[in-house]
Amino acid sequence: HRPKPLAGKTIVMTSGPTHEAIDPVRYIANRSSGKQGHAIAAALVRLGATVRLVSGPVTIPDPEGVDVIHVESACEMRDAVEQLLPADAAVMVAAVADWRTANEAGEKIKKQPGKKAPALQMVENPDILAGVGHSTLRPRLVVGFAAETQDLLANARKKLDKKGADWIVANDVSHATGVMGGDRNAVRIVTRSGVEEWPDMSKDEVAERLASKIAEALQTVDV
Ligand code: C5P
Repeated sequence: HRPKPLAGKTIVMTSGPTHEAIDPVRYIANRSSGKQGHAIAAALVRLGATVRLVSGPVTIPDPEGVDVIHVESACEMRDAVEQLLPADAAVMVAAVADWRTANEAGEKIKKQPGKKAPALQMVENPDILAGVGHSTLRPRLVVGFAAETQDLLANARKKLDKKGADWIVANDVSHATGVMGGDRNAVRIVTRSGVEEWPDMSKDEVAERLASKIAEALQTVDV
C-alpha cells in the first residue's frame, strides 16, 4: 500500500476548455484537451485526497475516483466552483475562455444573400482562479496555471498577485511545443520565493510530481 498523505483533504479543481455559445449550434472554444488537469486530479486521488473536479467539455473519460461536475461555459464553471468552497486546496487548470459572446442568439444565425457577416460582440468572463484566490473562503493552497506563448516567467509572476495564487505552473504552449492537446509538458513552478524548472516529462509525470508537492505543502503548518 502506498502512503496517503492527502487523506482527509478536499481539493477543488478545474480542467479542460470552456465553450462559449454563439447560438444554439455554434460556440467559441480552445485547444485544451483536459489531459493535464485530469491527470492531476487522478494523482491527487491516489494520494488520498477527495477531489471535486469541474470539467469543461472534453473527450477523455472522467478520472478514476474523482467526483466530476460537467459544465460548458466559464460562467457555469464559476458557479460550480463557488459551490465547492471551502476546501483545503484549489488547483485551477482549465483553459477558461477570456471572453464570451455578449448575447447568445436564441435561434441559429442564418446566412442570407447580400447580408453582411455577423459581428460578434464579446464581454469579459469572470476570472475563476482570481475569485477563489481572493475569496473569504480561500483554500490554504491555491494553484493556477499560466499557458503562454511569450514572456512566460514575467507573466506567471504577475499572476501570483493578480489572482491571489500561491503557485503558478507556467507552461509554454507555443504551437511547436505540442503541449496543447499533446501528452508531454515542460513546466516551471513559480512561487513568491522563486522558480523551479522541471524537465520535459509526460503529463502523468507532471501530475505525480505536482500532487506530491501539494501533499508536502498541505502537511506543513504554513504554505
Ligand atoms: O490569465 P490567464 O488565463 O493566463 O490565467 C490562467 C490561470 O487562471 C489558469 O489557472 C486558469 O485556470 C485560470 N483562469 C480562470 N478563469 C479565467 C481565466 C483564467 O480560472 N477566466
